[in-house]
Amino acid sequence: MTDPAVRELAAAVAALFPPRVERARVDAWLTAALNDALARVHDGAVIPDIDMARFRAELDAIDFETPRPLEALLEWSIERMEHGIVQMTNPRYFGLFNPGASFPSQCADRIVSSFNPQLASSASSPVPVALESHLIRAVARRAGLGLQAGGHFATGGSEANYTALICALTCAHPDFAQRGARAFPGAPVFYTSRECHIAWLKIAHQAGIGRQALRLVDTDGSGRLDPQALCRAIAADRASGAVPVMLVATAGTTGGGMIDPLAPCADIARREQLWYHVDAAWGGAAIASERMRTLLRGMERADSITIDAHKWLATTMGCALFISARPAVLSEAFHASTSFMPSSIAGVDPYLNSVQWSRRFLGLRLFLALGAAGWAGLGAHVERSVAVIEQIRARLTALGWSIANDSPLAVLDALPPTPQDVRVLVRRVVAAGRAWVAPASFEGRDVVRICATHGATSERDIEELVSALSAAAC
Ligand SMILES: Cc1ncc(COP(=O)(O)O)c(C=O)c1O
Repeated sequence: MTDPAVRELAAAVAALFPPRVERARVDAWLTAALNDALARVHDGAVIPDIDMARFRAELDAIDFETPRPLEALLEWSIERMEHGIVQMTNPRYFGLFNPGASFPSQCADRIVSSFNPQLASSASSPVPVALESHLIRAVARRAGLGLQAGGHFATGGSEANYTALICALTCAHPDFAQRGARAFPGAPVFYTSRECHIAWLKIAHQAGIGRQALRLVDTDGSGRLDPQALCRAIAADRASGAVPVMLVATAGTTGGGMIDPLAPCADIARREQLWYHVDAAWGGAAIASERMRTLLRGMERADSITIDAHKWLATTMGCALFISARPAVLSEAFHASTSFMPSSIAGVDPYLNSVQWSRRFLGLRLFLALGAAGWAGLGAHVERSVAVIEQIRARLTALGWSIANDSPLAVLDALPPTPQDVRVLVRRVVAAGRAWVAPASFEGRDVVRICATHGATSERDIEELVSALSAAAC
C-alpha cells in the first residue's frame, strides 16, 4: 500500500492481526505462562486474594486511548485471573457444579477460537453441524432416548431448560406460536419440585407466562418431588381453570444431588398429557458410568432432557445439551425465514431449531473429551467423584458430623457435630482459603454443601478439607 494514510491504518490494525511469526511467538509464551500460573493455582489459595479497591483504581486508569503492548496485557490478565477469582482448577474447590475443565475441552476452545466458525447454518459450517448432530445422537442413545431423538448445544442449563418450556407451550396449543400465552383458555402452568434450580422462575418470566406459572411442588422429606403432592397440584389447577403444560423432574438437585422419581413422573406426565422434561443438568453425567446409569431409569421416557457438559462432564463453560425425543417440535418452535442465510433446512440448520442465531462451536469440547476418554473414561471420572465424596462422608461421620441428604451422586450436605450457624461456619472455611464449600438449604435446614468437582482431588486435598471443616466447627 502506497497511500501513507492507509499505511498508518494498517500499522494500527497490526495490533489486532499480527503476522504469523509474531502470533506463534506470543502463543508459545502464552502457553508456558498459563501452565506456570495453573501450577501455582493448584497448590495455592482457592479464594481471590486481590485488593479489589486497588484493582478498580487500576481499571479507572485504563481509558483505552493509548494502546498497550499485547504481551504486557496478557501477563497482566493472567496475573489478575490468578488472584482475582474463586479457583475452579484448584482441587480443593468443593463448590457449586463448576468443574476443573478437562484438557481436551480446553484444546477444543483453542481450535474453535482459531477458526471461529459460524454454526448458525449447515452451509457455513457443514463439518461442525454434522459433528454436533452426531454427538447429540450418541448422547441421546446413551440416555436411552431412542434413534429419532435430536437436539442441539446450548450455552447452559438455563437456556436448555428455557428451550424445554418453549417446546412444551408450542406443543400444548397450536396458536401459542402466534398468540403467546393468550392462546390458552386459562393460565398455562408447569410443575417442578421446590428443590429445583430456581432459574425456572426466570424462565417462566422470559417465556411470557409469568413467574406465577411455576408450581413448586412439595418434596417427600428427602429432597425428592412427591408424586402425590404433584397429582393434587395438577388437579387443583385444572379445577380452577389453569392449563398444565409441563412437568419437570430433576435428576441431581442443585442443593442435595437428589434424583426425583423419574418413572412415576413419566407415568403422571403421560396420563396428564404434559410435556415431560428431565433437568439432568448435573446428574445426567451418570449416563457415562455403567454402574450409575441405572440411577436415571425413567429419564428415557422424557420428551426432553438437559445435560450440562460444563458441569460433571468437565468441559469448559458454557456447554449444555438440549435433547428431545420429539425434535420436530424444535423446528416448529424456532422456525424463521430470511433470504440472507446461506442455508435454510428445517431440522438441520441450528438457527431454525434453537434459541440462538449466531452460535459458537460448543460441541467440540465434549467431542474431544468423549473421544479421548471414551464413555469408560468419562464414567471413571464420574465414579471417582462419588468415591471422593464417600471418603469425605466417612471422615466426617467419624468426627461426629451428620449427613442430611441421601444422594448416590457426588454431593454431600453435612451438619457439624454441635448445632451452630452453618453459614458462619462456611464463611470461616472459605476465608481460610484452603478449601471452598457452599452453604445450602436442604429440606429447610442449613447445611454445608460439599461437591466433588475436580478430576484430580487427592487424599491430601480431602484431609485439608476435613481439617478446615473441623477447625471452623470448633
Ligand atoms: C439442576 C440444575 N438445572 C439448571 C441449572 C442451570 O444451569 P446453568 O448454570 O448452566 O445455566 C443448574 C445449575 O447449577 C442446575 O443445578
